[in-house]
Amino acid sequence: MKFSFRRLEKEHALSILRWRYLPPYDSYNFDINTIQAGLCYLIDPKNAFYAILNVHEELEGYCSFGADGQVPGGDYCTEALDIGMGMRPDLVGQGQGKHYAEAVVKYGANQYKAQKCRVTIAELNKRAQRVWQQVGFEQIEKFVKTGTEEEFVIMIYAV
Ligand SMILES: CC(C)(COP(=O)(O)OP(=O)(O)OC[C@H]1O[C@@H](n2cnc3c(N)ncnc32)[C@H](O)[C@@H]1OP(=O)(O)O)[C@@H](O)C(=O)NCCC(=O)NCCS
Repeated sequence: MKFSFRRLEKEHALSILRWRYLPPYDSYNFDINTIQAGLCYLIDPKNAFYAILNVHEELEGYCSFGADGQVPGGDYCTEALDIGMGMRPDLVGQGQGKHYAEAVVKYGANQYKAQKCRVTIAELNKRAQRVWQQVGFEQIEKFVKTGTEEEFVIMIYAV
């Protein structure tokens, strides 16, 4: 599968804000009541969001590199590139996740000259954990998000 990456533009962001994942993954849906705030967040260069495009330049997912991928309460002392990722809802659950994750790691590590990549995932989201495991990530930590009872895991990969 061939993908290209481009800084997220307004049109991409507006599509992503409308994407709807089905339960139990609906916590990844953006809040439609705060579209403007979501838009500002997604296109703010310091949040480093990128569009994942197919060969026809169609939007198939997005990713972020840096602080967006961190969750309060985790230990981020080790230097590593934090990665966030989301595929278009109609593409999930078909065994394709590893191809997207592989491409994201390759692009991010090259772009940011990273020696290590890191993902932080809800402990309940076994599907996402499995995808990153398939790409070579290993769990190094489990923690509770500050101010909540939600458990998260941190997985890391040496490039
Ligand atoms: C997370 C995401 C990238 C996973 O990609 P995907 O294409 O949906 O996942 P796949 O269909 O490739 O499944 C990956 C693996 O998880 C397994 N899996 C699916 N549901 C599972 C479950 N409930 N428990 C355990 N394993 C599960 C699949 O069987 C597959 O493993 P296998 O290849 O050994 O059979 C994608 O769903 C996504 O972008 N979701 C957006 C929201 C999100 O979860 N974000 C998390 C941050 S990465």
